Amino acid sequence: MSKFWSPAIHSLVPYTPGEQPKVAGLIKLNTNENPYPPAPGVSAALHSFPSERLRLYPDPDAGRLKQALAEDSGLETRQIFVGNGSDEVLALAFMAFFRQNAPLLMPETTYSFYDVYCDLFDIDYRKIPLDQQFRIDLAHYRTPNGGIIFANPNAPTGIALGLDAIRSLLEANTETLVLVDEAYVDFGAESALALVNEFPNLLVVQTFSKSRSLAGMRIGFAFGHPALIEGLERVKNSFNSYPLDMLAIETACAALADRDYFVATCQRIVDTRESAAERLTALGFNVLPSSTNFLFARHPDIPGAELMSYLRSHNILVRHFSKEQIADYLRITVGTDDEMDALVTTLARHPELSSKLSA
Ligand SMILES: Cc1ncc(COP(=O)(O)O)c(C=O)c1O
Repeated sequence: MSKFWSPAIHSLVPYTPGEQPKVAGLIKLNTNENPYPPAPGVSAALHSFPSERLRLYPDPDAGRLKQALAEDSGLETRQIFVGNGSDEVLALAFMAFFRQNAPLLMPETTYSFYDVYCDLFDIDYRKIPLDQQFRIDLAHYRTPNGGIIFANPNAPTGIALGLDAIRSLLEANTETLVLVDEAYVDFGAESALALVNEFPNLLVVQTFSKSRSLAGMRIGFAFGHPALIEGLERVKNSFNSYPLDMLAIETACAALADRDYFVATCQRIVDTRESAAERLTALGFNVLPSSTNFLFARHPDIPGAELMSYLRSHNILVRHFSKEQIADYLRITVGTDDEMDALVTTLARHPELSSKLSA
């Protein structure tokens, strides 16, 4: 607290990112990072980059990356926006589109940065509960609104909506922007990218952090009608002309160029996810059906916070949210097969579980 703060800062409750521990040897399953390195071309791009070029500013438009994303997606460059992680793309979108006279609609349980942006930008919002199975029910979003945002697949539940549900929401909701945050879409959901040419009020946001293993480079992007992209560019160019540095642009292009590696890595994670989900179920966990690189699971007899501390004492980090509706759950990033094996065998040795399993 300081008397020098602007008044609005006093009431801000910032987002809390998952821990990035300094301790070596931890199994880190708490921030949905990819356990595999980026495509080999990324390393080659970094090694061959002439450091002499760094004295210049990067391309403010990241034109090469937009071109590569256009080729990859089949859209035009004027339908593409890039930013410093999808967190920044989302923040700029909140500023560009959601400061309206009606509330922004979002799921009650979703990515917890959304309400932080609302508070930062003074946006009114309304949270809509998930159904009993923790699914988003878009039928409940057909009320007057100043915009709609949801993650698909949703976080931290991991559950995906089909494109039909999104299409029918868009058909009913034509007057305000619908933002679909697809941070995890490559692990098994259908992308709303397929609807971008049909609906001028749809913005689809994706990231290189998860499926492309580039969380450390901070690269996010959005697909939408050129008029939406222009709105985002106006805000971006009123805030930071150069959100992507030269190395981010180079490495993103190199990652995109290797589709085979991307497909194989995603498939590997999906396979590991499915076998880990089966093993956790066998231990008595309820595991929600995941279309992401994480599992959301609870044990009916042991509170989530206790399981998180137990795992931590065995050098395994997972994420726990104290929010009431989900306090029983753990969000477990899908790591390598060995890491998931360590997780499952450690859980099986939990005193309460091992006594049950041997009974
Ligand atoms: C649903 C969702 N959206 C967006 C992000 C932000 O990703 P990044 O800023 O790394 O692109 C995350 C990160 O975990 C996320 O879970």
